[in-house]
Amino acid sequence: MKFYIATDHAGFAIKEDVKKIVKDLGYEIEDLGTNSNERVDYPDFAHKLSRAVLNESGSFGILICGTGIGMSLAANKHKGIRAALCHDAYTAKMAREHNDANVLCFGQRVVGLGVIESIIKAWCESKFEGGRHAKRVEKIEI
Ligand code: RB5
Repeated sequence: MKFYIATDHAGFAIKEDVKKIVKDLGYEIEDLGTNSNERVDYPDFAHKLSRAVLNESGSFGILICGTGIGMSLAANKHKGIRAALCHDAYTAKMAREHNDANVLCFGQRVVGLGVIESIIKAWCESKFEGGRHAKRVEKIEI
């Protein structure tokens, strides 16, 4: 399983910790920035990561901003990206099982590292169930 990760300045402080969580679970993760606390615009990073995920079939993305809201809004503008703003392990599990989400978003100002670890574990342990959910996921695209 390959992950890409990107943050804005409001998600930068925890980026290395999140990368370590993913690596410790045995997965590859590629860092697409940002690389400092300097203010940046979250859509630039959401778009960069979304393009990377779309270019590599089967890969996932992790986007972090202050709340996770802006990142998810921007990523979901890309056809084929299903970005889910998750607050806990349950929402992460459902995002994979029911929504076939391929980009995980959360907010550095909202969730702590313990919760983030449980979110990432739940995401990695869950698979899209298909079946009745497949038809609904197809209907998301307009
Ligand atoms: C930056 O202050 C903040 O607006 C951004 O990180 C994000 O939370 C937007 O949705």
